[in-house]
Amino acid sequence: MIEPPAQNLPTERTGPAAVLVRDVWMDFPVKQGSQAVPVLERINVEIQRGEFVCVVGPSGCGKTTLLNIIAGFLNASRGEVQVEGEPVHGPDPRRIVIFQEGSVFPWLTVSANVGFALSRKTAAERNQIVQHYIDMVGLTGFESAYLRQLSGGMRQRVEIARALAANPEVLYMDEPFGALDYFTRFKMRADLVRIWQQEKKTILFVTHDIDEAIQLADRVVVLSSRPSTIRLILSVSLPRPRDLNSRDYLDTRDRILHALGMSLQNGIPPDAGD
Ligand SMILES: Nc1ncnc2c1ncn2[C@@H]1O[C@H](COP(=O)(O)OP(=O)(O)OP(=O)(O)O)[C@@H](O)[C@H]1O
Ligand SMILES: [Mg+2]
Repeated sequence: MIEPPAQNLPTERTGPAAVLVRDVWMDFPVKQGSQAVPVLERINVEIQRGEFVCVVGPSGCGKTTLLNIIAGFLNASRGEVQVEGEPVHGPDPRRIVIFQEGSVFPWLTVSANVGFALSRKTAAERNQIVQHYIDMVGLTGFESAYLRQLSGGMRQRVEIARALAANPEVLYMDEPFGALDYFTRFKMRADLVRIWQQEKKTILFVTHDIDEAIQLADRVVVLSSRPSTIRLILSVSLPRPRDLNSRDYLDTRDRILHALGMSLQNGIPPDAGD
């Protein structure tokens, strides 16, 4: 079940990986004589097409930095990222990032937000795609609503619908449910898994929430505190929907906690946090 990081280098396969992160290191540059900030060290991950991978790690360890490098918003100090065998040199509409804060437009209706990237389609095609994804995320009836008229969870649904409507090959998600309450997060996770199963997209999902990662992922990449290295890559083979009380679920959580030097018995680890 566990793949040790040392053996986590890409293996020979027939086609290119959906996303390949090869020997990525990141140091943020020095400011006025202070030392460079080492954030990522020797990160190697290979994500297959259609796979759902979660990255977990303590706050401030470099999860967003890694996602920004993979999405092409930041250049790594060393190493490379490839998507479908092509090196990543910048953002690309074939890959969409959903952030925690949300980036949908408050001055547009739900429909206009979801259809935002579809200007090249005919009106009929656009309407059909927009309705399809509004229905999929459970916002039927709110097509003409403005964002201020929606709850936080509903706004995140608009984000997801808009991203899917643009038909990306890969979805990158950075703590997209972080601002939502406990119950809404549960519902959003279940809905995201259902949508992912229907759409068969490749998803890379960043979270500091270990339970969230186990509920969602095919594989969980566990990062250490900064400078981050990969502590563990764990395949989660539990059947979906996942039973959060099952022995296997709790064992999986224990393995991740152990990799982070934590246990729920003795509380907070010495190296957690910023
Ligand atoms: N543009 C930047 N310039 C300098 N340092 C940065 C920059 N962006 C991030 N950092 C530093 O890199 C480290 C990792 O930040 P990052 O935002 O990637 O962490 P994170 O794991 O996403 O944290 P969180 O769980 O709080 O979202 C932090 O120490 C942060 O101060
Ligand atoms: Mg972050």
